[in-house]
Amino acid sequence: MLDQQIRDHDFPSLKCRVYLNTAAEGIPPIAVREAFQQYFQDKELGMDGRELHEVQWEAAKKLVSQLYGMSSDEVSICSCSSEAFNLAYQSLQLKPGDEVIISDLDFPASYTFGLQQSCPATVKIWEARDWELRLEDLQSLLTDKTRVVSISLVSFFNGFKIPLKEVIQTIRQHSSALIALDVTQALGRIPLDLEDIDLVISSTHKWILASHGGGLVGVPASRANEWTVPAGGWFNLKDAFGDRRFEKAESLPGAASFTVGMPNYPAVYAIRAALDYITAVGVEEINQATEPLVEACLAGLAELPVEFISPRKIENLAGIIAFRHPEAERIYQHLHSKQIHPMYHAGRIRVALHGYNTLDDVETFLRELKYTLSKSFVGT
Ligand SMILES: Cc1ncc(COP(=O)(O)O)c(C=O)c1O
Repeated sequence: MLDQQIRDHDFPSLKCRVYLNTAAEGIPPIAVREAFQQYFQDKELGMDGRELHEVQWEAAKKLVSQLYGMSSDEVSICSCSSEAFNLAYQSLQLKPGDEVIISDLDFPASYTFGLQQSCPATVKIWEARDWELRLEDLQSLLTDKTRVVSISLVSFFNGFKIPLKEVIQTIRQHSSALIALDVTQALGRIPLDLEDIDLVISSTHKWILASHGGGLVGVPASRANEWTVPAGGWFNLKDAFGDRRFEKAESLPGAASFTVGMPNYPAVYAIRAALDYITAVGVEEINQATEPLVEACLAGLAELPVEFISPRKIENLAGIIAFRHPEAERIYQHLHSKQIHPMYHAGRIRVALHGYNTLDDVETFLRELKYTLSKSFVGT
């Protein structure tokens, strides 16, 4: 989608490799390097630099709010998704008898708080069947004790994209649970419609092409009471330095309560630059340009002797496709030696296709994968 010249200029490290691992680490455009340089320059000003940091902070929040479909006051930035989820659960003050629903296609960041011994709630698992999550299975888990359903829009494991509208409808019809959505594997890759979601969280080092050290939090104003974190800090407080500071600490409502201390400004600069970049290219455009690549990859894999563990229909996918093979580790090593970079983890090989990938990338990957699956390779 990016013409060759722009791609080479903005992502020079992609010139000599086939990079298929954005679901783990996005490749930042050169604009992000410049943002870090800018951060250093502003930081050198000492306290005078803070005004400049705050300009970046506001700009980053505005960009996040646009992608989340919220206002700037409804978003904030903490340090990673895991931190955001820990704080979110803290705000729920779960009690014995409360129930939390998670899915077995999810990344640990969003659910492991509930599995700590100190958490009094009961965790129920929405289990995938044939690598897909089914609405009827979710429905059967919902009760009047369900406090939160915490799920990813796109699974890090196999790329399954939940049918969001139907999931929301099912939850609303059968419980009064809050919906916490992890959009880490979707943000920047597919257009989002997050209406009627109660909490949105994303990491920043994957599809939005920014750096580590960010957790993008969205809390609609209507849910600010439910998601106000009673954490210590100062940036999150209404009046951290007032006369009554030794009497009580009161959090700002909603998203603002998730940023407890000084923001991670280097990451904020990177987020601002990366989201500027993504927004200028256009998420809709990225998605449209990348769909044929996903289709080509699906078609190519269907012809190969691998255990496919992703949905086969493009409407149930965003940018991730995964498969297994008994020789996955050797296959991965070979691909890597040829400068082809998918992910090998948890027994599967995962391919991630973003706007900077090309059909040539997919064809090179499939050709080399086919070789590794041939008798002359696997049989040796
Ligand atoms: C869905 C999802 N959420 C969160 C994370 C990462 O969480 P954190 O930002 O806490 O490192 C990942 C990383 O792979 C992920 O796939």
